[in-house]
Amino acid sequence: MLVSCDLRAIYMLIRRAKKEDYAAFAAIEAEHPGYPAWGEKGFGAEEKNRNSVTLAAEADGRPAGFINFWILRPQVQLNTLAVAQASLRRGAATALIGKMLEYAAKNLCREIDLEVNEHNAAAIALYLGYGFEVVGKRPKFYNNTDDALLLRKTVPVKDI
Ligand SMILES: CC(C)(COP(=O)(O)OP(=O)(O)OC[C@H]1O[C@@H](n2cnc3c(N)ncnc32)[C@H](O)[C@@H]1OP(=O)(O)O)[C@@H](O)C(=O)NCCC(=O)NCCS
Repeated sequence: MLVSCDLRAIYMLIRRAKKEDYAAFAAIEAEHPGYPAWGEKGFGAEEKNRNSVTLAAEADGRPAGFINFWILRPQVQLNTLAVAQASLRRGAATALIGKMLEYAAKNLCREIDLEVNEHNAAAIALYLGYGFEVVGKRPKFYNNTDDALLLRKTVPVKDI
């Protein structure tokens, strides 16, 4: 059997996030001006939501990125994903999305939904590469200016 993997991502550990990560997550958000920031409080508030999963990508013993999604069977809603500037293009986001897809399959979720700023070329390239498709648009969703693209990935039945 031929197994493909992203060798860059081997150096990324993907694990459940802990309280102690939230300051680092907020610092990563601050490295991306204009990206909607949850801050430490926002990540903390997610702990009360039992549908919510926050994962950390760890490189060299430090958080290099994060993802948060809600498991709303039969859908998964991807809420936020960002990677530290120093760790970009090393496969962190790819590894985080890969783990989210594992959660989706384990929870019998058939669809992954997300919104992305129409001008966010990096994120759009990432998602299209992962098989997401544009299924709609929310006009002036961001700061009453930029449109949001609605993207969806259908998880094949064989993967569930
Ligand atoms: C979008 C983001 C999460 C990508 O993280 P990353 O860890 O650098 O992504 P990966 O290394 O896994 O990249 C996977 C693929 O995505 C695409 N991609 C990633 N960054 C890209 C860029 N700047 N330009 C074009 N394509 C890009 C490429 O196809 C890349 O594969 P390649 O490196 O083999 O060419 C990161 O740029 C980020 O944190 N941006 C700010 C927050 C944000 O916009 N989040 C998205 C929310 S919707």
